[in-house]
Amino acid sequence: MTAVNPHYLKLQGSYLFSTIAKKVAAYKEAHPQTQVISLGIGDVSQPLVPAVVEALQQAGREMGQAETFRGYGPEQGYEFLRKTVLQGDYLSRGLALSADEIFISDGAKSDVANFQELFSSSARVALQDPVYPVYLDTNVMAGRTDVYKNGRYGGIIYLPCTEENNFLPQLPREHADIIYLCSPNNPTGAALTKTELKKWVDYALEHHSIILYDSAYEAYITQAGVPHSIYEVPGAEKVAVEFRSFSKTAGFTGTRCAYTVVPKGVMLTTPDDGKVSLHSLWLRRQTTKFNGVPYIVQRAAEAVYSPQGRAQTRAVIGMYQQNAAVILSALKEAGLTAFGGQNAPYIWLKTPQGVDSWSFFDKLLVEAQVVGTPGVGFGACGEGYFRLTAFNTPQLTAQAARRVADLTF
Ligand code: MLT
Repeated sequence: MTAVNPHYLKLQGSYLFSTIAKKVAAYKEAHPQTQVISLGIGDVSQPLVPAVVEALQQAGREMGQAETFRGYGPEQGYEFLRKTVLQGDYLSRGLALSADEIFISDGAKSDVANFQELFSSSARVALQDPVYPVYLDTNVMAGRTDVYKNGRYGGIIYLPCTEENNFLPQLPREHADIIYLCSPNNPTGAALTKTELKKWVDYALEHHSIILYDSAYEAYITQAGVPHSIYEVPGAEKVAVEFRSFSKTAGFTGTRCAYTVVPKGVMLTTPDDGKVSLHSLWLRRQTTKFNGVPYIVQRAAEAVYSPQGRAQTRAVIGMYQQNAAVILSALKEAGLTAFGGQNAPYIWLKTPQGVDSWSFFDKLLVEAQVVGTPGVGFGACGEGYFRLTAFNTPQLTAQAARRVADLTF
């Protein structure tokens, strides 16, 4: 028989959100009369905005005409979208990048999962705890960790994010080759200020490390002093890759479009002490393993940047931000301590004394028919915490918030 990749056997259970979906499905089957409200997985509730739908329809018509039909597109994205992203998200903020440093893809999840394959299998990985599970699990799959013991994988540098440090990662004492940072953070909602982020860029410059910067929730930033891009920090263009997504910005969770910025100045060492650019490797990887995002989807993403697209998507984001405020105020009413929700669509609440994350999940599901995500599912430091998302409709969010506020803890 063919042998398995042994690293897969180190993985713990199933993917967090699949485990939760199974539990919720079982509860619904046993209680068909109840109305379960999800503030669990970060999936959006609002439809695509009219400007995006119009662009999709127009592009769909083009695909139905011989003169405008398109087959395979460039693996790294059409020029029209790369240029629009460059102008809309970087040049307009005074950040000098070029369009060919922007790679259009079908999702930040897949990009962030795939990116680690460019690094040596002995590279030391540092990541936040709690953490979006994809960063960790893909490094486990790639063999960059030892086995899992007492809630941790050997070989990983965990950066605890706790109430004591305002859920912000602190520089490691040891050397890290690859550093995953997510800001605004999933799951805690905490956001790095420019001063905090600069510490990481300086560390990476000094240690010749690479920062993989997940900025999928950038559109939710409300506070001044919180950078929208890591390239706002001088030097980041030599050490950082940035992941962005249209999922939570423009409702593309089902439509699938994202982009990754790989500046040409980011270098890796070769076994013979030479240098190779990360950009050339990612281009090689994408042209080999990926066939690009559908033309119609790229036209839809382009429409997010039109004046109407911007205004319409901002209105939807504003609605989710208002949901976050509703949830925060209900938690306060219930006497619970909560964080986040200000620069992110995630609320990170502290479970009542002595109640672990999964017991809190069960309580909310059984007593309020509200689904959230147990903090411990994001790592050992998430034990005793629980994540709620602001992505449901205002009506269902208000209903869920009322149910939670009425619970006795
Ligand atoms: C989440 O709930 O953490 C997100 O939906 C994850 C994702 O974007 O893949």
